[in-house]
Amino acid sequence: MRLLVCGGAGFIGSTFVRLRVRDHGDQVTVLDKLTYAGRRENLQEVESEIRFVQGAIEDPLAVADAVAGCDAIVNFAAETHVDRSIADPEGFIVTNMQGTHVLLEAARERGLRYLQVSTDEVYGSIEDGSFTESSPLEPSSPYSATKTGADLLVSSYFHTYALETLICRGSNNYGPHQYPEKLIPLMILNALAGDRLPVYGDGGNVRNWLFVEDFARGIGDTLLRGAPGEVYNCGGPDECDNLTVVRRIIELTGADPGLVEFVTDRPGHDRRYSLSSEKLRALGWRAQVRFDAGLARTVQWYRENEWWWGAIRSGAYREYYERHYGRALKA
Ligand code: NAD
Ligand code: DAU
Repeated sequence: MRLLVCGGAGFIGSTFVRLRVRDHGDQVTVLDKLTYAGRRENLQEVESEIRFVQGAIEDPLAVADAVAGCDAIVNFAAETHVDRSIADPEGFIVTNMQGTHVLLEAARERGLRYLQVSTDEVYGSIEDGSFTESSPLEPSSPYSATKTGADLLVSSYFHTYALETLICRGSNNYGPHQYPEKLIPLMILNALAGDRLPVYGDGGNVRNWLFVEDFARGIGDTLLRGAPGEVYNCGGPDECDNLTVVRRIIELTGADPGLVEFVTDRPGHDRRYSLSSEKLRALGWRAQVRFDAGLARTVQWYRENEWWWGAIRSGAYREYYERHYGRALKA
């Protein structure tokens, strides 16, 4: 296939690009604005085999340039961090909603298949059981509200214009190349540095952990075998509360358990996410990586790739950390 992958320099997008180029021989153009979360280094293994366009998805000229010659658009591009959306939602509205609209128009004008990468957060929180694709949409944060708005716009293009749309909703991803604002890489790097481990609230919030390569395969399966107009959930094989995740990271890094610090909770913090992936399983998808094995691989990757995260931790991330956590990051 000839794919336009938007947001392909980020954590999940770059994993998807590596998979499609290496294992499937797809021709890929990446369109990415290279925000703080996007890095060319994430694509270095396939750099010579892809076309890279730096630009924003909300810019119709950049999109028109990037989409030339492609058969399908896969959109990962988004502002993705819930805490940043609570502090300042505006950029989330521009990228996640306006940007999605510009991409949908580009797909409509050219008759291209369109896949939107979405999230379990559109369903809100669930005490027991798991969300299916027909569960009501009840987002809690500005981030998840913009992702929900984008999903509804995508579905409207199927119903109104018969555009071949697909939506794949993933649960919490983890793995190599994840920016250290998110729970798992933040805790790994702080643990390795002997820094405090800030757990929100009582640490009892539960997430449904999905290794990033499993999500990349689920998105590929949805793109190739999904039915137009449909939504597919892609959930991880294991659930775990945050405090248990942090304790496992302490064991894997050998850090001092006394580094755990309970801090003020996130406003509107969803208690539990859980996805049923039966519909995607019917297309042949299975999660292959269990949480314990995936977490050990992830810790190992961060241990071995200081070249990747050293530059992040010494740059603008320090200012973000100080602003958000009210204290400096340990050098
Ligand atoms: P990320 O923050 O690591 O990467 C986002 C990428 O999008 C970066 O490369 C960034 O430069 C790019 N980008 C941001 N704004 C842009 C714009 N206006 N135009 C072009 N590019 C832009 O994110 P991620 O964790 O890899 O998430 C990718 C997608 O998957 C997002 O749509 C997210 O909502 C969704 N998702 C994430 C998770 C998760 O656990 N991380 C789970 C389910 C779904
Ligand atoms: O569920 C899918 C979503 O997962 C994606 O759509 C989002 O893009 C992605 O950011 C992620 O959202 P979460 O809010 O679940 O992930 P985060 O890593 O920010 O937080 C995971 C849990 O850990 C959550 O309950 C909050 C908690 N947490 C997080 C941080 C950063 C802490 O206790 N301390 C922290 O310092």
